[in-house]
Amino acid sequence: MEELKRIAAERAVAEYVESGMVLGLGTGSTAAFVVRRLGKLIADGDLEDVRGVATSAQTVALAGEVGVPLVTLAEARPVVTIDGADEIGPGLALIKGGGGSLLREKIVAHATGALGLVVVADGSKLVGSLGEGPLPVEVEPFGWEATLRYLASLGCEPELRMDRTEGKNPFVTDGGHYTADCRFASIPDPAGLEREIKRIPGALECGLFVGLARTAIVSRPDGTRVIEA
Ligand code: A5P
Repeated sequence: MEELKRIAAERAVAEYVESGMVLGLGTGSTAAFVVRRLGKLIADGDLEDVRGVATSAQTVALAGEVGVPLVTLAEARPVVTIDGADEIGPGLALIKGGGGSLLREKIVAHATGALGLVVVADGSKLVGSLGEGPLPVEVEPFGWEATLRYLASLGCEPELRMDRTEGKNPFVTDGGHYTADCRFASIPDPAGLEREIKRIPGALECGLFVGLARTAIVSRPDGTRVIEA
C-alpha cells in the first residue's frame, strides 16, 4: 500500500510540478510522499525556486525536514495542489479529513489556480458512492454538543474524534477546532449534503470536496490510472 501511495505521489510531482512554481502541499501519508519527492528533487538541483503552501503543522514540519521552502496564502497563490483523499467517488467528489486537516486543506484547494486540486491515492480509495467511511466535519468547540445533535438530524451518527495518543480528550485541529466523524448509510448527493452541513453555525467545514478535484492519480498493483473530472 505504501508503495502504491509513493507511485501515485511521484507521478503527480513528475507531471505537475515545474521550477518556479508555487504549489499546495496536502496532509497525510500519501501527500507526505509528494513533499519528500519535492525535497529530493530540490536537493539534487532538479527543481529550483519551488515553494509550497502547507495545509497543516504536520506538513510544515515535514517540509522543513526535507528542505521544501514554504510561503503563505498571503504571499502567493498555488497553481496546483497535490493532496490525498479518504474516498474518491463519482465525478471526483471526495471525502477528506481523516488526517484532521480538512479546513486548511479545503482553503488551500479552493485558493488554487489553473491546475486545481490533483488527488493522489492508492486504489483502495476509489468508491462507487461516497460514505463508505465516516465524513469528518470540523466543528467549533463552543456548543459542540448542539452541533453534533444538528448533524445527527441530517441522518448520520456523529462521533466526536478523540485524541489518538491519550483517548481521553477531544482531538484538536491546527485551528483549535474539534472534529465530528459522521457515519451516513450512504451519501448519494454530496453537494446537497455539503450545503446542508454549512447551514449549521457550529459546523465550520465538512470533508466533502465537490467540484474541487480536477484530476486523480490512482495506483493499483496492476497499474496507475489518471482520472479526469
Ligand atoms: C488529511 O486531513 C486528509 O484529508 C488526508 O488527505 C486523507 O485522510 C488521506 O490520507 P492518507 O494519504 O494518509 O490516506
